[in-house]
Amino acid sequence: MSNVDKVLILDFGAQYAHLIARRIRECRVYSELIPYNTKAEDIAQIKPKGLIFSGGPASVYDKAAPLPDPAVYNLKIPILGICYGLQLIVHQHGGEVIRADKQEYGKSVLKITDTSDIFKEFKPEAVCWMSHGDAATKLPIGFEPIAYTDNSPYAAIRDKERKIYALQFHPEVSHTPRGKKILRNFLFEVCRCGINWTMHSFIRRTIEEIRAKVGSERVLCALSGGVDSFTTAALIHKAVGEQLTCIFVNHGLLRKGEAEEAVKTFKDTLGVRLITIDASKRFLDRLRGVVNPEEKRRIIGEEFVNVFTESSIKYGPFEWLAQGTLYPDVIESAVKSLASRIKTHHNVGGLPEQIRFKMLEPLRDLYKDEVRKLATLLKLPDRIVRRHPFPGPGLAVRIIGEVTEEKLRICREASSIVEEELQKYKLYDKVWQAFAIVGDDKAVGVLGDARSYGFIVSVRIVQSTDAMTADWVRVPYKVLERISSRITNEIHGVCWVTYVISSKPPATIEPQ
Ligand code: XMP
Repeated sequence: MSNVDKVLILDFGAQYAHLIARRIRECRVYSELIPYNTKAEDIAQIKPKGLIFSGGPASVYDKAAPLPDPAVYNLKIPILGICYGLQLIVHQHGGEVIRADKQEYGKSVLKITDTSDIFKEFKPEAVCWMSHGDAATKLPIGFEPIAYTDNSPYAAIRDKERKIYALQFHPEVSHTPRGKKILRNFLFEVCRCGINWTMHSFIRRTIEEIRAKVGSERVLCALSGGVDSFTTAALIHKAVGEQLTCIFVNHGLLRKGEAEEAVKTFKDTLGVRLITIDASKRFLDRLRGVVNPEEKRRIIGEEFVNVFTESSIKYGPFEWLAQGTLYPDVIESAVKSLASRIKTHHNVGGLPEQIRFKMLEPLRDLYKDEVRKLATLLKLPDRIVRRHPFPGPGLAVRIIGEVTEEKLRICREASSIVEEELQKYKLYDKVWQAFAIVGDDKAVGVLGDARSYGFIVSVRIVQSTDAMTADWVRVPYKVLERISSRITNEIHGVCWVTYVISSKPPATIEPQ
């Protein structure tokens, strides 16, 4: 994002560092996570209005403690340290941090002694959420406390002169009810950010950026049928019109009726040149005998790129390949953060290096809910906007073990029943994702008077705002009962239905 005021978050490995980014965007200021060790000179080039040091699991005394480039303190950019960020700031400025006798975890009452800047418009007391072991015991020269709790004399500190602020608690979590106000105060009172991160301004800027990048070259956009790629295509179409060609590849791993519906909606809505390719056989042939989930992803990613490359030769030339990659995909593919690699999302990580296209990913800074807002502003059809996210490798990641025709049929039919029942009970729009999973496990059932032996289908329904965390949904029993009886009655070869009650973390949303 050029030409917008932005705040950079140095990621010290906090599980929820991205939450800080979201909160800041909710204040309509653009923010982004960057690796904690980004060089000060690189940060200076980006010209952020503020820097935030996230929390993290390390102790400043660990041998491998992640430390920022000390030169960041000389950039004259306001800094806000959170939790480990506070300990770092104290430690790197010559103060004292010790491992506290007892960990402070949970809600604490913050007593505020100065309301001139980050606590502007605060009453003397506020609830905050603490979660730390180490604590500052002596402040560096130039720093003063501005809030304390019973256990932390330095719950909030500042060096007003140098605009360095730090909090021992977490303002980004909902358990700190006025945490967002603290972040707002940092953004607007200290960093003097302008409010310029709105969807309207995003559309305007992105269109300009696409035009500038693409020039008179041609773009091939991969459509998946979901809101991300649809929105990507709509934006690029607005930017470069006829230079855009879309391609819809049916890899044979889509939901029931999805390919037909996607193509129809796309044609009706955008009127862009569309190439449709039924590559089901080709994908399924390559997946035969493959059981390893990462291997399946790799094969599907590779095959996608092969199809694109072939189409590019046949219908091209195209210099650009556009994809609806989102910010969580980028984070989870985790090339740049401390978080360990979780899964290879084929739309980012699986692309081979010799890829012939230049990549255009206009949504790579956005979260899903932001994309949905964008899609609504672009007047995309409601059913596309509301559609649950669906992974690029499709049902292959919901079929545990080998992808066979039989398991594919069961997974597809069962998912369709889950979706239909949620629509019927008006729950579809209230949940994040809802689908069926099938593996190789079988169980015994009775069919008429005879024993039968059939597959076990697991139903997964989760709630989330951005897929980084998710909770299983406490669906009413009557809905589960209806889903279960329809699956066993209507789908040949299924004997049992189970419901998945694991949240993310520690589980992930998809089973593979
Ligand atoms: P997990 O299973 O990692 O999923 O908790 C988080 C979100 O990402 C989607 N997902 C994928 N999307 N390619 C994609 O485009 C993939 O390989 C992939 N794997 C998971 C998943 O549906 C959920 O919304």
